Amino acid sequence: KSPSPAAAEAKSEAAKNVKIGTYFATWWALNVVFNIYNKKVLNAYPYPWLTSTLSLACGSLMMLVSWATKIAEPPKIDLEFWKALFPVAVAHTIGHVAATVSMSKVAVSFTHIIKSGEPAFSVIVSRFLLGETFPPAVYLSLVPIIGGCGLAALTELNFNMTGFMGAMISNLAFVFRNIFSKKGMKGKSVSGMNYYACLSMLSLLILTPFAIAVEGPHMWVAGWKEAVSEIGPQFIWSVAVQSIFYHLYNQVSYMSLDEISPLTFSVGNTMKRISVIVSSIIIFRTPVQPINALGAAIAILGTFLYSQAKA
Ligand code: 3PG
Repeated sequence: KSPSPAAAEAKSEAAKNVKIGTYFATWWALNVVFNIYNKKVLNAYPYPWLTSTLSLACGSLMMLVSWATKIAEPPKIDLEFWKALFPVAVAHTIGHVAATVSMSKVAVSFTHIIKSGEPAFSVIVSRFLLGETFPPAVYLSLVPIIGGCGLAALTELNFNMTGFMGAMISNLAFVFRNIFSKKGMKGKSVSGMNYYACLSMLSLLILTPFAIAVEGPHMWVAGWKEAVSEIGPQFIWSVAVQSIFYHLYNQVSYMSLDEISPLTFSVGNTMKRISVIVSSIIIFRTPVQPINALGAAIAILGTFLYSQAKA
């Protein structure tokens, strides 16, 4: 006997939830590994412009090999696609390098606490640059987000201005990246995976000359030799892991963006930050004062209230 339409619908809804749940869990797990290894590398080798470039280079190479070997179907794209991708890539590059610079200066948990304030940037950009208006509850939810981030920043034991500003710039840049990329993906036949692959390649082209100008091969080689002699081959392994996992977590997040609304995406992103904050505090034994933790908790609660208010 064939199942009733209602039962079939419930079954397909359940299958979709399992799929999205799997995407989210994979995304968070990959992101935690990236953050831990990225910080391990930055502790020994404080060249965030190079490590950001290596992450993009590694992802670009992985995707070129996947296309050449037909593991992934290469996208059918034209010059128009690359032109539309350009602003997304500029924003992605700025957001990525700024977050990495931030993490080279402060604890991973602090960068992610400030990055949990991203919805506040989203509202401010949408309100003042795009002229969008929101219900009062959305504006009210910004109070705990901004207040919580502010409290966490003021009570941070190892506060550093570059670290703080890096995370703030990353927030602003990623708001633009998300606005532009959702627009760019709409109605296009390019999958989330291939869209992110092209984004990595274009960002790599944009970032490389700046990385050379800001840090440069001279510093990179000297620092590399020092790190290898101090840590041994383990250091090279950590660089490889942070680069591969950077690509993988972003790829999975773009694959899930294909399936869900930007709102669900941002809730998932905040929950991801909780796992990063907690695991990095445990692994790096980051000192936290109760008032500092309270600030982080208020900010994260604010992000949830924001998503409820927006829904
Ligand atoms: C980066 O290096 O791009 C940042 O760590 C990214 O941060 P997010 O993907 O967690 O916003």
